[in-house]
Amino acid sequence: MAWRNAVTRFRINAHRLGNNGLFAYKLGTRSACQVRGPGALRGPGGRLGLIVATVLAVLAAIVPEAVAAPPSTVVNVAHRGASAYAPENTVAAFKLARRQQADMVEFDVQETRDRRLVVMHDATLARTTDAEEVFPERAPWRVGDLTFAELRRLDAGSWFAAKYRGERVPTLGEVLRAMSGSGLGLLLELKTPRLYGGIEARVADELRRHPAWLKPGRLIVQSFDWDSMRMFHDTLPQVPIGLLGTPTSEELPEVAEFASRINAPHRDITPDYVRRVRAHRMGLFTWTVDDQAIMRRLISYRVGGIITNKPDVLRGLTRV
Ligand code: G3P
Ligand code: CA
Repeated sequence: MAWRNAVTRFRINAHRLGNNGLFAYKLGTRSACQVRGPGALRGPGGRLGLIVATVLAVLAAIVPEAVAAPPSTVVNVAHRGASAYAPENTVAAFKLARRQQADMVEFDVQETRDRRLVVMHDATLARTTDAEEVFPERAPWRVGDLTFAELRRLDAGSWFAAKYRGERVPTLGEVLRAMSGSGLGLLLELKTPRLYGGIEARVADELRRHPAWLKPGRLIVQSFDWDSMRMFHDTLPQVPIGLLGTPTSEELPEVAEFASRINAPHRDITPDYVRRVRAHRMGLFTWTVDDQAIMRRLISYRVGGIITNKPDVLRGLTRV
């Protein structure tokens, strides 16, 4: 079994290097991959390392995948936190994601009327807060129509379960602080940035106030609005950019100029699409997957990460 374990480890490392994702090996920025690849064979014992790697490569090629299938190193991204179990886009959901051993948390950023950056998915507050009761005269309860002081009066937890009563809509700054010691990465989505002209610069300013998040491998910024992401890249080029959607083969070369990953809906993912994205030296996450069978299939396609409302379910599949 020892040689089989060695083969498994080899496959894990090969997959880690191939992910072009986040987190040292997992987050694997291009430079991190390059350092960890050839560099691993240098120094004293380098020749022995090369021989061992070659032998393991041969073994990996001849051992059937079903026998030596590695635990996946797919990045586990908690969608709006562990949102199947706690109110989405709240600090409670992000902390639960950590307890469920997610690697990253995904969340959505918008702005209040007085331009405070807050974490909320929908364009209106009706579904995930008690805005209709607190401000009955303010229909349709758009995020951008309320001031921050007004928004802070809302309960963002009771709609989900009584035990979350009193949970507030967090600011971006609060999330950056709350998650700073967590060891998790952040996948920050600019939600409908066109509603909030200039939000890219204001998010960049907030991130600069929390420079630890700007270190390599800690943060990805994403949006469905690709123009906004190009703008964000120009503003803060050290932050990896994710594009939500499924760029065509024709679009991939152009978007690869400013994006480092594609974050596509899982129904669009095929092994060929994964290969095409990787051919442009970009990573690929996919969303939103809570079903184990679909997770397994996507892992077999070698996606870099899966965005899920149930990080515990994905962790159950990938635990080493
Ligand atoms: O991160 C992927 C996903 O969050 C995009 O869709 O609508 O949940 O923000 P949505
Ligand atoms: Ca989102």
